[in-house]
Amino acid sequence: MKQVVLAAYAKGNPKPSDFRIEEVPVPVAGEREILLRTLWLAVDPLIRFSLDEKLLSGATRMELGAVMVGPTVCEVAASNHPDYAVGDVVEGRSGWQEYAVVAPDQSDYRGPPRKVDSSLAPVSTALGALGGPGQTAYEGIVNVGKVKAGETVVISAAAGAVGSIAGQIVKVLGGRAVGIAGGASKCAALLDLGFDAVADYKAPDFADQLKAALPDGAEVYLDNVGGDVTLAVLPHLKRGARMPMCGFIAYYGVGMEGPGPDHLPGFYRQIMAKALEIKGFAGIFAGKKGLEDIAGWMKDGKIRFAESVVEGLDAAPQAFSSVFSGHDHVGKLLVRVAPEA
Ligand SMILES: NC(=O)c1ccc[n+]([C@@H]2O[C@H](COP(=O)([O-])OP(=O)(O)OC[C@H]3O[C@@H](n4cnc5c(N)ncnc54)[C@H](OP(=O)(O)O)[C@@H]3O)[C@@H](O)[C@H]2O)c1
Repeated sequence: MKQVVLAAYAKGNPKPSDFRIEEVPVPVAGEREILLRTLWLAVDPLIRFSLDEKLLSGATRMELGAVMVGPTVCEVAASNHPDYAVGDVVEGRSGWQEYAVVAPDQSDYRGPPRKVDSSLAPVSTALGALGGPGQTAYEGIVNVGKVKAGETVVISAAAGAVGSIAGQIVKVLGGRAVGIAGGASKCAALLDLGFDAVADYKAPDFADQLKAALPDGAEVYLDNVGGDVTLAVLPHLKRGARMPMCGFIAYYGVGMEGPGPDHLPGFYRQIMAKALEIKGFAGIFAGKKGLEDIAGWMKDGKIRFAESVVEGLDAAPQAFSSVFSGHDHVGKLLVRVAPEA
Protein backbone atom coordinates (compact mmCIF):
# COMPACT_ATOMS: atom_id res chain seq x y z
CA MET A 1 0.00 0.00 0.00
CA LYS A 2 1.01 3.65 -0.35
CA GLN A 3 1.46 6.22 2.38
CA VAL A 4 2.57 9.85 2.47
CA VAL A 5 5.34 10.69 4.93
CA LEU A 6 6.87 13.99 6.03
CA ALA A 7 10.15 14.49 4.15
CA ALA A 8 11.02 18.01 5.40
CA TYR A 9 9.65 20.47 7.95
CA ALA A 10 7.71 23.23 6.22
CA LYS A 11 9.44 26.57 5.82
CA GLY A 12 6.73 29.15 5.19
CA ASN A 13 3.87 27.60 3.25
CA PRO A 14 4.09 23.82 2.72
CA LYS A 15 5.14 22.59 -0.74
CA PRO A 16 4.76 19.17 -2.38
CA SER A 17 8.49 18.42 -1.98
CA ASP A 18 8.04 18.49 1.82
CA PHE A 19 6.35 15.09 1.44
CA ARG A 20 7.34 11.66 0.09
CA ILE A 21 5.25 8.71 -1.03
CA GLU A 22 6.36 5.29 0.20
CA GLU A 23 5.16 1.73 -0.41
CA VAL A 24 4.85 -0.53 2.64
CA PRO A 25 3.00 -3.80 3.43
CA VAL A 26 -0.66 -3.53 4.46
CA PRO A 27 -0.71 -3.81 8.30
CA VAL A 28 -2.60 -6.57 10.12
CA ALA A 29 -5.15 -5.87 12.88
CA GLY A 30 -4.24 -7.36 16.30
CA GLU A 31 -6.43 -8.06 19.31
CA ARG A 32 -9.22 -5.43 19.76
CA GLU A 33 -7.92 -3.57 16.69
CA ILE A 34 -9.52 -2.74 13.33
CA LEU A 35 -8.05 -2.45 9.83
CA LEU A 36 -9.29 0.63 7.97
CA ARG A 37 -9.32 1.14 4.20
CA THR A 38 -9.10 4.88 3.53
CA LEU A 39 -11.79 6.31 1.26
CA TRP A 40 -11.36 10.06 1.80
CA LEU A 41 -8.87 12.32 3.47
CA ALA A 42 -9.17 15.99 4.35
CA VAL A 43 -6.29 18.41 3.75
CA ASP A 44 -7.08 20.59 6.78
CA PRO A 45 -5.08 23.82 7.28
CA LEU A 46 -4.54 23.04 10.98
CA ILE A 47 -2.31 20.09 9.98
CA ARG A 48 0.26 22.84 9.24
CA PHE A 49 0.73 23.28 13.03
CA SER A 50 2.36 19.81 13.16
CA LEU A 51 4.89 20.59 10.43
CA ASP A 52 7.06 23.19 12.18
CA GLU A 53 10.48 21.94 13.26
CA LYS A 54 9.76 23.39 16.70
CA LEU A 55 6.18 23.03 17.95
CA LEU A 56 4.64 26.54 18.20
CA SER A 57 1.02 25.68 19.01
CA GLY A 58 -1.28 22.72 18.65
CA ALA A 59 -0.93 19.22 20.00
CA THR A 60 1.51 17.33 17.79
CA ARG A 61 4.91 17.86 16.25
CA MET A 62 5.56 15.30 13.53
CA GLU A 63 8.85 13.43 13.20
CA LEU A 64 10.50 13.34 9.79
CA GLY A 65 9.57 10.10 8.02
CA ALA A 66 6.30 9.73 9.97
CA VAL A 67 2.98 9.15 8.17
CA MET A 68 1.12 12.43 7.65
CA VAL A 69 -1.55 13.00 10.29
CA GLY A 70 -5.08 14.07 9.45
CA PRO A 71 -8.77 13.21 9.41
CA THR A 72 -10.09 10.48 7.15
CA VAL A 73 -13.24 8.61 6.27
CA CYS A 74 -12.58 4.88 6.04
CA GLU A 75 -14.30 1.57 5.58
CA VAL A 76 -13.64 -1.17 8.15
CA ALA A 77 -11.80 -3.86 6.17
CA ALA A 78 -11.17 -6.25 9.08
CA SER A 79 -12.31 -6.12 12.70
CA ASN A 80 -11.18 -7.73 15.94
CA HIS A 81 -13.24 -5.28 17.98
CA PRO A 82 -16.86 -5.97 19.01
CA ASP A 83 -18.04 -2.38 18.32
CA TYR A 84 -17.02 -2.40 14.63
CA ALA A 85 -18.11 -4.68 11.79
CA VAL A 86 -16.54 -5.17 8.37
CA GLY A 87 -18.16 -2.65 6.00
CA ASP A 88 -18.84 0.01 8.67
CA VAL A 89 -17.82 3.49 7.53
CA VAL A 90 -16.02 5.54 10.17
CA GLU A 91 -14.45 8.95 10.60
CA GLY A 92 -11.14 9.01 12.40
CA ARG A 93 -7.64 10.40 12.18
CA SER A 94 -5.83 7.51 10.50
CA GLY A 95 -3.57 9.71 8.33
CA TRP A 96 -2.53 9.90 4.71
CA GLN A 97 -2.30 6.21 3.86
CA GLU A 98 -4.33 3.62 2.00
CA TYR A 99 -4.80 1.34 5.02
CA ALA A 100 -4.30 1.81 8.76
CA VAL A 101 -4.67 -0.29 11.88
CA VAL A 102 -6.43 1.51 14.72
CA ALA A 103 -7.01 0.51 18.36
CA PRO A 104 -10.39 2.10 19.29
CA ASP A 105 -9.74 1.54 23.03
CA GLN A 106 -6.62 3.73 22.88
CA SER A 107 -8.11 6.75 21.16
CA ASP A 108 -7.14 10.35 22.04
CA TYR A 109 -9.44 13.11 23.34
CA ARG A 110 -11.40 13.00 20.10
CA GLY A 111 -12.68 9.54 21.04
CA PRO A 112 -12.74 6.29 19.04
CA PRO A 113 -13.48 6.29 15.28
CA ARG A 114 -17.00 7.70 14.81
CA LYS A 115 -19.47 5.68 12.76
CA VAL A 116 -20.81 7.62 9.78
CA ASP A 117 -24.50 7.44 8.88
CA SER A 118 -24.61 7.28 5.09
CA SER A 119 -28.39 7.82 5.07
CA LEU A 120 -27.92 11.49 6.10
CA ALA A 121 -25.59 12.61 3.32
CA PRO A 122 -22.58 11.32 1.36
CA VAL A 123 -20.03 9.87 3.79
CA SER A 124 -17.43 12.43 2.66
CA THR A 125 -19.43 15.11 4.51
CA ALA A 126 -18.12 13.59 7.76
CA LEU A 127 -14.95 15.56 6.91
CA GLY A 128 -16.85 18.73 6.01
CA ALA A 129 -20.33 19.97 6.84
CA LEU A 130 -21.05 17.02 9.15
CA GLY A 131 -17.56 16.88 10.66
CA GLY A 132 -14.89 19.15 12.10
CA PRO A 133 -15.44 22.11 9.73
CA GLY A 134 -19.21 22.04 10.34
CA GLN A 135 -18.70 21.89 14.11
CA THR A 136 -16.24 24.78 13.85
CA ALA A 137 -18.65 26.91 11.83
CA TYR A 138 -21.39 26.19 14.38
CA GLU A 139 -19.18 26.97 17.38
CA GLY A 140 -18.00 30.21 15.76
CA ILE A 141 -21.42 31.51 14.72
CA VAL A 142 -23.80 30.07 17.32
CA ASN A 143 -21.85 29.59 20.57
CA VAL A 144 -19.01 32.13 20.37
CA GLY A 145 -20.41 34.68 17.89
CA LYS A 146 -23.91 34.44 19.45
CA VAL A 147 -25.32 35.76 16.18
CA LYS A 148 -28.85 37.15 16.39
CA ALA A 149 -31.44 37.87 13.70
CA GLY A 150 -30.78 41.15 11.92
CA GLU A 151 -27.04 41.21 12.65
CA THR A 152 -24.41 41.49 9.93
CA VAL A 153 -21.66 38.89 10.04
CA VAL A 154 -18.52 39.18 7.93
CA ILE A 155 -16.54 35.99 7.32
CA SER A 156 -12.98 35.65 5.96
CA ALA A 157 -11.91 32.58 3.92
CA ALA A 158 -15.64 32.34 3.33
CA ALA A 159 -15.34 29.94 0.39
CA GLY A 160 -13.50 27.39 2.53
CA ALA A 161 -14.93 24.45 4.43
CA VAL A 162 -15.70 26.41 7.61
CA GLY A 163 -16.67 29.71 6.01
CA SER A 164 -19.08 28.24 3.46
CA ILE A 165 -21.10 26.55 6.23
CA ALA A 166 -20.75 29.48 8.66
CA GLY A 167 -22.38 31.91 6.20
CA GLN A 168 -25.31 29.57 5.70
CA ILE A 169 -25.77 29.20 9.48
CA VAL A 170 -25.90 33.00 9.69
CA LYS A 171 -28.77 32.91 7.18
CA VAL A 172 -30.58 30.20 9.17
CA LEU A 173 -30.35 32.48 12.25
CA GLY A 174 -31.79 35.42 10.32
CA GLY A 175 -28.55 37.37 9.96
CA ARG A 176 -26.89 39.02 6.98
CA ALA A 177 -23.85 37.07 5.69
CA VAL A 178 -20.96 38.87 4.01
CA GLY A 179 -18.18 36.66 2.64
CA ILE A 180 -14.58 37.52 1.77
CA ALA A 181 -12.79 35.19 -0.65
CA GLY A 182 -10.02 35.25 -3.23
CA GLY A 183 -11.23 35.49 -6.83
CA ALA A 184 -14.42 36.28 -8.73
CA SER A 185 -15.48 32.64 -9.16
CA LYS A 186 -15.25 31.93 -5.43
CA CYS A 187 -17.27 35.09 -4.71
CA ALA A 188 -19.91 34.03 -7.24
CA ALA A 189 -20.12 30.61 -5.57
CA LEU A 190 -20.77 32.30 -2.22
CA LEU A 191 -23.68 34.30 -3.61
CA ASP A 192 -25.03 31.04 -5.02
CA LEU A 193 -24.84 29.50 -1.51
CA GLY A 194 -26.99 32.36 -0.19
CA PHE A 195 -24.47 34.93 1.08
CA ASP A 196 -25.95 38.43 0.88
CA ALA A 197 -22.80 40.19 -0.28
CA VAL A 198 -19.18 39.37 -1.06
CA ALA A 199 -15.78 41.03 -1.41
CA ASP A 200 -12.82 39.66 -3.38
CA TYR A 201 -9.66 40.34 -1.37
CA LYS A 202 -7.47 39.65 -4.40
CA ALA A 203 -9.18 42.38 -6.49
CA PRO A 204 -7.52 45.81 -6.71
CA ASP A 205 -10.74 47.45 -5.48
CA PHE A 206 -11.13 45.14 -2.45
CA ALA A 207 -11.46 48.09 -0.05
CA ASP A 208 -14.33 49.55 -2.10
CA GLN A 209 -16.02 46.15 -2.44
CA LEU A 210 -15.85 45.67 1.33
CA LYS A 211 -17.26 49.13 1.99
CA ALA A 212 -20.15 48.46 -0.40
CA ALA A 213 -20.82 45.06 1.22
CA LEU A 214 -20.82 46.55 4.73
CA PRO A 215 -22.65 49.89 4.38
CA ASP A 216 -23.67 49.86 8.07
CA GLY A 217 -20.68 47.93 9.45
CA ALA A 218 -20.78 44.50 11.09
CA GLU A 219 -21.69 43.18 14.54
CA VAL A 220 -19.64 39.98 14.14
CA TYR A 221 -16.43 39.04 12.31
CA LEU A 222 -15.65 35.31 12.03
CA ASP A 223 -11.94 35.47 11.29
CA ASN A 224 -10.29 32.53 9.57
CA VAL A 225 -7.35 34.43 8.15
CA GLY A 226 -5.74 37.36 10.02
CA GLY A 227 -3.22 39.41 8.01
CA ASP A 228 -4.21 42.08 5.52
CA VAL A 229 -7.79 40.81 5.25
CA THR A 230 -8.38 41.39 8.96
CA LEU A 231 -6.68 44.80 8.83
CA ALA A 232 -9.18 45.74 6.10
CA VAL A 233 -12.19 44.46 8.10
CA LEU A 234 -11.40 46.07 11.49
CA PRO A 235 -12.50 49.62 10.55
CA HIS A 236 -15.94 48.22 9.58
CA LEU A 237 -16.62 46.56 12.94
CA LYS A 238 -19.23 48.26 15.08
CA ARG A 239 -18.66 49.23 18.70
CA GLY A 240 -18.81 46.09 20.86
CA ALA A 241 -18.47 43.80 17.84
CA ARG A 242 -17.70 40.14 18.54
CA MET A 243 -14.78 38.54 16.76
CA PRO A 244 -14.72 34.74 17.05
CA MET A 245 -11.11 33.95 16.12
CA CYS A 246 -11.26 30.67 14.28
CA GLY A 247 -7.91 30.64 12.49
CA PHE A 248 -5.11 32.79 11.16
CA ILE A 249 -4.03 30.99 8.00
CA ALA A 250 -2.20 34.07 6.66
CA TYR A 251 0.31 33.62 9.51
CA TYR A 252 0.71 29.82 9.67
CA GLY A 253 4.07 29.95 7.91
CA VAL A 254 5.63 32.89 9.74
CA GLY A 255 6.30 31.45 13.20
CA MET A 256 5.66 33.53 16.32
CA GLU A 257 6.87 36.82 14.85
CA GLY A 258 6.22 37.86 11.28
CA PRO A 259 8.67 39.88 9.25
CA GLY A 260 6.80 43.10 10.11
CA PRO A 261 5.69 45.84 10.01
CA ASP A 262 4.21 45.46 13.49
CA HIS A 263 0.44 46.05 13.26
CA LEU A 264 -0.24 45.25 16.91
CA PRO A 265 -0.35 48.93 18.02
CA GLY A 266 -3.18 49.74 15.60
CA PHE A 267 -4.93 46.48 16.44
CA TYR A 268 -4.77 47.18 20.19
CA ARG A 269 -6.11 50.68 19.63
CA GLN A 270 -9.18 49.32 17.85
CA ILE A 271 -9.78 46.57 20.41
CA MET A 272 -9.97 49.12 23.21
CA ALA A 273 -11.57 52.03 21.39
CA LYS A 274 -14.32 49.84 19.90
CA ALA A 275 -14.65 47.50 22.91
CA LEU A 276 -14.18 44.51 20.64
CA GLU A 277 -14.75 41.05 22.05
CA ILE A 278 -12.17 38.71 20.56
CA LYS A 279 -12.32 35.04 21.42
CA GLY A 280 -10.32 32.12 20.09
CA PHE A 281 -12.05 28.77 20.12
CA ALA A 282 -11.86 25.11 19.08
CA GLY A 283 -14.65 23.84 16.88
CA ILE A 284 -14.74 20.46 18.56
CA PHE A 285 -16.58 22.04 21.53
CA ALA A 286 -19.73 22.28 19.36
CA GLY A 287 -19.92 18.51 19.93
CA LYS A 288 -22.91 16.41 18.90
CA LYS A 289 -25.40 19.27 19.23
CA GLY A 290 -23.65 21.23 16.48
CA LEU A 291 -23.62 18.27 14.11
CA GLU A 292 -27.25 17.38 14.89
CA ASP A 293 -28.43 20.93 14.17
CA ILE A 294 -26.48 21.10 10.89
CA ALA A 295 -27.81 17.68 9.83
CA GLY A 296 -31.35 18.93 10.53
CA TRP A 297 -30.82 22.12 8.53
CA MET A 298 -29.38 20.07 5.66
CA LYS A 299 -32.40 17.80 5.74
CA ASP A 300 -34.69 20.85 5.60
CA GLY A 301 -32.75 22.18 2.59
CA LYS A 302 -31.50 25.22 4.56
CA ILE A 303 -27.82 24.30 4.30
CA ARG A 304 -26.00 22.93 1.28
CA PHE A 305 -22.57 21.37 1.50
CA ALA A 306 -19.92 22.31 -1.04
CA GLU A 307 -17.06 19.90 -1.78
CA SER A 308 -14.15 19.87 -4.20
CA VAL A 309 -12.43 16.56 -4.91
CA VAL A 310 -8.95 15.68 -6.13
CA GLU A 311 -8.25 12.08 -7.06
CA GLY A 312 -5.73 9.69 -5.51
CA LEU A 313 -3.36 9.65 -2.53
CA ASP A 314 -0.50 10.86 -4.77
CA ALA A 315 -2.38 14.17 -5.15
CA ALA A 316 -2.53 14.86 -1.39
CA PRO A 317 0.77 16.83 -1.06
CA GLN A 318 -0.18 19.16 -3.93
CA ALA A 319 -3.75 19.55 -2.64
CA PHE A 320 -2.54 20.37 0.88
CA SER A 321 0.01 22.90 -0.42
CA SER A 322 -2.66 24.60 -2.54
CA VAL A 323 -4.70 25.43 0.58
CA PHE A 324 -2.00 27.97 1.49
CA SER A 325 -0.87 29.10 -1.95
CA GLY A 326 -4.23 29.47 -3.68
CA HIS A 327 -6.69 27.30 -5.59
CA ASP A 328 -10.12 27.60 -7.18
CA HIS A 329 -11.89 25.03 -5.03
CA VAL A 330 -15.01 25.91 -3.10
CA GLY A 331 -16.09 24.25 0.16
CA LYS A 332 -14.26 21.31 1.65
CA LEU A 333 -11.22 20.20 -0.35
CA LEU A 334 -11.01 16.40 -0.21
CA VAL A 335 -8.74 13.70 -1.60
CA ARG A 336 -10.55 10.58 -2.80
CA VAL A 337 -8.10 7.82 -1.87
CA ALA A 338 -10.26 4.88 -2.96
CA PRO A 339 -13.77 4.37 -4.32
CA GLU A 340 -16.57 3.54 -1.92
CA ALA A 341 -17.72 -0.09 -2.06
N1 LIG B 1 -10.53 26.74 15.64
C1 LIG B 1 -10.78 25.52 15.12
O1 LIG B 1 -11.16 24.58 15.80
C2 LIG B 1 -10.60 25.34 13.64
C3 LIG B 1 -11.06 24.18 13.00
C4 LIG B 1 -10.96 24.07 11.61
C5 LIG B 1 -10.34 25.09 10.89
N2 LIG B 1 -9.85 26.17 11.55
C6 LIG B 1 -9.22 27.28 10.83
O2 LIG B 1 -10.24 27.93 10.10
C7 LIG B 1 -9.70 28.45 8.89
C8 LIG B 1 -10.49 27.91 7.70
O3 LIG B 1 -10.37 26.50 7.69
P1 LIG B 1 -11.07 25.65 6.52
O4 LIG B 1 -11.10 24.25 6.97
O5 LIG B 1 -12.31 26.34 6.11
O6 LIG B 1 -9.97 25.81 5.38
P2 LIG B 1 -10.06 25.57 3.81
O7 LIG B 1 -11.36 25.01 3.39
O8 LIG B 1 -8.82 24.84 3.44
O9 LIG B 1 -9.96 27.03 3.26
C9 LIG B 1 -8.82 27.80 3.54
C10 LIG B 1 -8.85 29.02 2.64
O10 LIG B 1 -8.12 30.07 3.26
C11 LIG B 1 -7.81 31.02 2.27
N3 LIG B 1 -6.44 31.51 2.48
C12 LIG B 1 -5.31 30.78 2.50
N4 LIG B 1 -4.25 31.58 2.71
C13 LIG B 1 -4.75 32.85 2.80
C14 LIG B 1 -4.17 34.13 3.00
N5 LIG B 1 -2.84 34.27 3.17
N6 LIG B 1 -4.98 35.22 3.06
C15 LIG B 1 -6.31 35.09 2.91
N7 LIG B 1 -6.94 33.90 2.70
C16 LIG B 1 -6.16 32.80 2.66
C17 LIG B 1 -7.92 30.32 0.91
O11 LIG B 1 -9.09 30.79 0.27
P3 LIG B 1 -9.04 31.96 -0.82
O12 LIG B 1 -8.77 31.31 -2.13
O13 LIG B 1 -10.36 32.61 -0.72
O14 LIG B 1 -7.88 32.83 -0.45
C18 LIG B 1 -8.15 28.86 1.31
O15 LIG B 1 -8.92 28.17 0.37
C19 LIG B 1 -8.24 28.07 8.86
O16 LIG B 1 -7.49 29.14 9.42
C20 LIG B 1 -8.20 26.86 9.78
O17 LIG B 1 -6.93 26.64 10.32
C21 LIG B 1 -9.97 26.31 12.90
